[in-house]
Amino acid sequence: MAHQDDIFKKVVAHAKEYGFIFPSSEIYDGLAAVYDYGQLGVELKNNIKQYWWRAMVQMHENIVGLDSAIFMHPRIWKASGHVDAFNDPLIDNKDSKKRYRADVLIEDHIAKIEEKIEKEVEKGRKRFGEAFDEAQFRATNGRVLEHQQKINDIRDRFAALMNANDLEGLKQMILDLEIVCPVSGTRNWTDVRQFNLMFATKMGSVIDDSDTLYLRPETAQGIFVNFLNVQKTGRMKVPFGIAQIGKAFRNEIVARQFIFRMREFEQMEMQFFVRPGTELEWFRYWKEERLKWHLALGIPEECYRYHDHEKLAHYANAATDIEFRFPFGFKELEGIHSRTDFDLSRHSEFSGKKLQYFDSELNESYTPYVIETSIGVDRTFLAIFSHALKDETLEDGSTRTVLSLPARLAPYKAAVLPLVKKDGLPEKAREIIDVLKQDMMVQYDEKDAIGRRYRRQDAIGTPFCITVDSDTLSDNAVTVRHRDTMQQERVAIDQLPAYLKSKI
Ligand code: GAP
Repeated sequence: MAHQDDIFKKVVAHAKEYGFIFPSSEIYDGLAAVYDYGQLGVELKNNIKQYWWRAMVQMHENIVGLDSAIFMHPRIWKASGHVDAFNDPLIDNKDSKKRYRADVLIEDHIAKIEEKIEKEVEKGRKRFGEAFDEAQFRATNGRVLEHQQKINDIRDRFAALMNANDLEGLKQMILDLEIVCPVSGTRNWTDVRQFNLMFATKMGSVIDDSDTLYLRPETAQGIFVNFLNVQKTGRMKVPFGIAQIGKAFRNEIVARQFIFRMREFEQMEMQFFVRPGTELEWFRYWKEERLKWHLALGIPEECYRYHDHEKLAHYANAATDIEFRFPFGFKELEGIHSRTDFDLSRHSEFSGKKLQYFDSELNESYTPYVIETSIGVDRTFLAIFSHALKDETLEDGSTRTVLSLPARLAPYKAAVLPLVKKDGLPEKAREIIDVLKQDMMVQYDEKDAIGRRYRRQDAIGTPFCITVDSDTLSDNAVTVRHRDTMQQERVAIDQLPAYLKSKI
């Protein structure tokens, strides 16, 4: 556990030190769970968004984009169910006055039992040495099974209480599990209450209840309420999708783990409208497609897993999460949901406008069913960034920190480095930059010894360092150093743009 914490601390520190992510309002001591993306962070974030947009919109003839407003009519959130049901169960400790999410206290309790399982596995590994069969050990060891049974019982009881909205039962469960406040160490808990996660604000100058607006907690509703606009003006035929990238806001109570859970964040969502009865086929299609998108970044498959939902929201008939192995364990990165006709039907009911589609092949009108794919930009950033950050010991015993970002996402694709600051090398380097910058982000750096400059570029994930030396002036070629292998090769300057593009 300590090891995981260390890795995570390093991720946060590196993100700040190199200008990827800063705490919001830092000179005013920060604003909890809100972050700013710095000069390199904004490049990486934009590249992630572009990678998603290309895969979803550019590569699919039947998917178009949308950029709907953050402010929407308040009845939208009534129709969607967010006003009544977008809640977290909260509990306060009377001694420390700290507030917690009841479900998080229970999850943390489960995590402690999981740690016990891991300790048993480690003991087993030491005891059996080479012959240790981890899978068999987990499936047969008495203590492991006992712990696992406890976890299953807790999860079942918790799910039943949440489904029944039984807040008293939830408090009783926390007492029964003898969960203590991590700050005061006591079990002096208040009752559990529901807390709505939407931020409310006012529009216009008249202060009365009817003016209350919400900052959208998801981008999806902007898509549903524009379903007819896009379908008609774009002459879209079912099946088709509408994709959107944009900010969402949630008043998260337990906002922690850096940009994993923020109060202001960004989502990339796509709603795919299909014929009723075909939705499960499309659900399976998008489940596979979305995992392929992640894997195409070159991050190993074992970092991802599906988590199929057994207990479904009342409007869904299939749901899965793609989970990623973050430094603090496997957690949700993306959700894929088969939402039936719930959203369009509810908006029809609340707006009084018929949100249907006339299917000319079937010669009938129906309310399309929806498959949703929904992924957080910031969570994707954290997944890619934390996986890429490595400390390496080199053959000569020295160490380096390298950010092995997928080349297509790296903030700078190349750095151009004159070996010395004289003899016409800086001018030659600038000439190269003037050509390359037409196609990609490139950086110039002449400060410090070349080795230190390589290290700096390694740390910010630049895949290629292009060194201009005295030979360059006569042979019109440069040395290209590869970030991950540190191999170097000579490339003719007039070949450079094509060479780099082919690698990126
Ligand atoms: N429209 C469906 C929807 O919003 P969700 O599971 O609540 O579903 C989708 O959110 C994705 O948005 C999550 O998988 C996660 O990547 C991201 N996300 C949700 N809440 C977040 C938060 N507080 N901070 C950062 N990302 C968040």
